[in-house]
Amino acid sequence: MEPDGATEDHTIASPGKRLDGRVAIVTGAASGIGAATVALFLREGAKVLATDIRAIDDDLLGNGAARAIPVRHDVASEREWRNVLIRAGEDYEGLDVLVNCAGINTPGGGVPENQDIENVSMDDFRAVHAVNVEGTMLGCKQAIPAMAASGGGSIVNVSSIAGWVGVPGAVSYGASKAAIWQITKSIALHCARAGQNIRCNSVHPGGIHTPMFVPMTGETRPGEPEAPHVPMRRYGEAAEVAAAILFLASDDSTYITGSALPVDGGLAVT
Ligand SMILES: NC(=O)c1ccc[n+]([C@@H]2O[C@H](COP(=O)([O-])OP(=O)(O)OC[C@H]3O[C@@H](n4cnc5c(N)ncnc54)[C@H](O)[C@@H]3O)[C@@H](O)[C@H]2O)c1
Repeated sequence: MEPDGATEDHTIASPGKRLDGRVAIVTGAASGIGAATVALFLREGAKVLATDIRAIDDDLLGNGAARAIPVRHDVASEREWRNVLIRAGEDYEGLDVLVNCAGINTPGGGVPENQDIENVSMDDFRAVHAVNVEGTMLGCKQAIPAMAASGGGSIVNVSSIAGWVGVPGAVSYGASKAAIWQITKSIALHCARAGQNIRCNSVHPGGIHTPMFVPMTGETRPGEPEAPHVPMRRYGEAAEVAAAILFLASDDSTYITGSALPVDGGLAVT
């Protein structure tokens, strides 16, 4: 029997079918969290456009019927976003899910060494914002009309715990990730008020083992916890973030919009 107020329309989908037939765009798909998200979405039945500024290794695109379409795509380019949306319409006839995962912490990759307020350069600040903030905003702007035409959808923006707490040496990256959080809330309210059936949420990873984070993890001494400052005393895995993204992308979260979900081993509440 359903508890009071529950309806059969909002039952949880079976594992393996959580995105059955849904069309999804995942940016930053060549590596780390984006690649893990593509793999999980394919396992859950989605039709995926996997985009990245770099070429995506063939083995990250799945196989057989569960194969993603790769698209070379700079998220900072409005023109290239238009092309991605055209591909979604032509190849899959619509759009249900957008995951804005592409991101950088420095223009050249690697550790943000000179991003404290006294040393950060305007070139660095603008380059990080062009990818992280403008890339996310442009994706949402282009996706919303396509989702509305498909009857609704779900946008998941990948922010960071660095946009939640202060990080003294990451003024560019932290500001860009805080902006993503705010953009997410604005979009959630806009779409809810417009009655478009489009939800928009953000995930906020802590330290996750990916190529972006490798230079920051440092050496662990034998017998010492990997990350003593994290309540769970370890860093996370890309698949653990992908699982949170899937939850927000799927009908498991139909009454959740404008929310911010830390995936950080408890760091946000310290
Ligand atoms: N790894 C972490 O600890 C961590 C923590 C918090 C947030 N994040 C966020 O998670 C997201 C994924 O990061 P990751 O850890 O998987 O890093 P990653 O470096 O493994 O992957 C990032 C991907 O984004 C792509 N990319 C960079 N610039 C692009 C552009 N202009 N257009 C299209 N694609 C572009 C890269 O080519 C790469 O494949 C990022 O937004 C990052 O800020 C990561």
